[in-house]
Amino acid sequence: MPRAAGLGRAAALGPLLAAHVVAAIEPISVGIALGAASALTGYLSYTDLYCRFAECCREEQRLNASALKLELEEKLFGQHLATEVILKALTGFKNNKNPKKPLTLSLHGWAGTGKNFVSQIVAENLHSKGLKSNFVHLFVSTLHFPHEQHIKLYQDQLQGWIRGNVSACASSVFIFDEMDKLHPGVIDAIKPFLDYYEQVDGVSYRKAIFMFLSNAGGDLITKTALDFWRAGRKREDIQLKDLEPVLSVGVFNNKHNT
Ligand SMILES: Nc1ncnc2c1ncn2[C@@H]1O[C@H](COP(=O)(O)OP(=O)(O)OP(=O)(O)O)[C@@H](O)[C@H]1O
Ligand SMILES: [Mg+2]
Repeated sequence: MPRAAGLGRAAALGPLLAAHVVAAIEPISVGIALGAASALTGYLSYTDLYCRFAECCREEQRLNASALKLELEEKLFGQHLATEVILKALTGFKNNKNPKKPLTLSLHGWAGTGKNFVSQIVAENLHSKGLKSNFVHLFVSTLHFPHEQHIKLYQDQLQGWIRGNVSACASSVFIFDEMDKLHPGVIDAIKPFLDYYEQVDGVSYRKAIFMFLSNAGGDLITKTALDFWRAGRKREDIQLKDLEPVLSVGVFNNKHNT
């Protein structure tokens, strides 16, 4: 696994670096260097130091909510509802030391409205390497689960992948893109992980985050925005309750995910 390889590299890097520094300094500077080193180790724990070289899963790490808010406000244009819901949900979830179930976020909208864009921002604020992180997993329906005749295989592989990754990092993030094109059988394979279970086969999924991106309901959202515009009302006046019909087509409620 890449994570195990990363661990090995970092462990090898530590002694190598130390040897190089010791060999390079002259005896007279050693006293000062030792002083500096002890001050440094007093300040940085081994974990802190280690995590500077290798990516660590810090499941207890708090979310920098103001940084996320600023980033969403500066970069995400015209999506006041998504900004509001995402901020509220993530802050509440990450501040809760004992969540009862994983966080599931479902983003709906027409093509090019920023669903992937916002999921990338969220991922980066949860794990700094974002989509490149070992703890962030992106699945694209048409790419990863394209063949209907292989549904059973996809179900087994996906469940094994989720279980393995949440065992390794409880705060793993899973992003499912093109949910509206995902076979109901694969959706069924994800469902058990999203519920209120203390543990499933010895693994707790309660600190994981699942994000679902979908075009489902995009036409209704656009229609609502158009109705508001025609009525001379501001886009920012649209509230979540105005999109209730959209929310009811939620990716898990609709058999055909249209
Ligand atoms: N609301 C937005 N604010 C700022 N940039 C945006 C926004 N929406 C889209 N973009 C820009 O357009 C690009 C494409 O958007 P993105 O891939 O996130 O759309 P999408 O909602 O995932 O669409 P699709 O349903 O076609 O997959 C983004 O990388 C971003 O640069
Ligand atoms: Mg997209």
